Amino acid sequence: MATAPYIVVGGGQAGLQVCDSLRKFGYEGELLLIGEEPVLPYQRPPLSKHYLGGDLDAARLSFRPASHYEKLGIALRLGVRVTAIDRERREVVCSDGSRLAYARLALTTGTRVRPLSCPGAEHPAVRYVRTLADSDGLRAALGDARRLVVVGGGFIGLEVAAVARKQGKDVVVIEALDRLMARAVSPQISNYYATLHRGHGVDLRLATGVTAIEPAVSGVRVLTDRDEACEADVVVVGIGVVANDELAAAAGLACRNGIVVDECARTSDPLLVAAGDCTMHMNGFLGRELRLESVQNAVDQARVAAGTMCDQPEPYVQVPWFWSDQYDVKLQMAGIGMPCEESVLRGDPAAGSFSYFYFRDGRLCGADSVNRPADHMACRRLLAQGTMITPAQVGDEGVDLMQIARG
Ligand code: NAI
Repeated sequence: MATAPYIVVGGGQAGLQVCDSLRKFGYEGELLLIGEEPVLPYQRPPLSKHYLGGDLDAARLSFRPASHYEKLGIALRLGVRVTAIDRERREVVCSDGSRLAYARLALTTGTRVRPLSCPGAEHPAVRYVRTLADSDGLRAALGDARRLVVVGGGFIGLEVAAVARKQGKDVVVIEALDRLMARAVSPQISNYYATLHRGHGVDLRLATGVTAIEPAVSGVRVLTDRDEACEADVVVVGIGVVANDELAAAAGLACRNGIVVDECARTSDPLLVAAGDCTMHMNGFLGRELRLESVQNAVDQARVAAGTMCDQPEPYVQVPWFWSDQYDVKLQMAGIGMPCEESVLRGDPAAGSFSYFYFRDGRLCGADSVNRPADHMACRRLLAQGTMITPAQVGDEGVDLMQIARG
């Protein structure tokens, strides 16, 4: 009897990486990638940046051309959703009615946007940015728009705000907390970005909630809990994402704000691995469980998952890193800096090039770098090696951090 294929569910960055890595690990059997979006796997980060701004073609978003999948023997089922996993029969059930047998299964189902829940939030002027189709729709809607309201001062909201300001739109950003990107960066970085956006003409409303969205004569009116009303042609909501773990949960796998996996990307079923934004995992570097939404995690954890599928398990121990582009400012984040006990400035915010290094329990735990890639790279290396470094050293620009990292 022929062996059933390895199946990867989810056609994002992690899904493609699992496939590529399976081949690198020497898996020569049948391989099938199932993705619900009707297009080849593509890069998501540009959707709220260069692609939205019109500086990047759709063709350049794809990670790989169709020939890559042929060459590696990766069969594709695109535009198809897996609706159930029958673990007893070792089959997946698809939205087109088919049932496909698997020998091993990788779940790379990612996340979906958290919807705004206030009255009027289903108005067609209200948009999200997660998929290529979302970004295409927003790009078209922004064409004629003059006034944009962004709900959520996180990565998506601020990147979209920067693109829209470059296009000359009036932009209001409404953020529920009292500072920007609070989940990811320190108050110092939040304040820098508040000043940056205000300097570019964004009307920033912090510590403000949206209570309703009402149709207006033209566009909509966004009402806030401060009794303000903001008129808009388009509203973009970026208030976070939720893990797509329902498929796994319905199949009886352990889930807790994501599919629970061990350090080798194994779920609670030894035949099933999971990787990327959808996993709640033990991070060997941090020594605790977390769910990461990042390119780094998608790629590195997918490699680990593929190794496990090939019976070559290696623990996932990587320093997390992230980035965000807003205007001509590049923010790079290394490690998990928050919460911290001490933050140390290196460089000069007034000159637009600086980093904050964070210390927890007397040790370096992360850094946020603004237009300062060398600090970012040095921090990643210092963290990966566990090199001891003091606040005084990172605060002294005369100290070459990369040299210390190199040993
Ligand atoms: P996020 O978690 O980065 O930011 C959400 C923001 O919305 C937070 O500041 C939060 O306080 C605020 N918020 C929550 N509820 C709100 C409400 N009702 N009204 C107003 N504000 C509210 O999530 P975001 O920006 O939606 O990004 C989604 C995903 O995309 C994340 O996984 C993110 O990491 C990823 N992404 C990453 C980028 C990067 O690393 N450069 C760029 C763009 C997106």
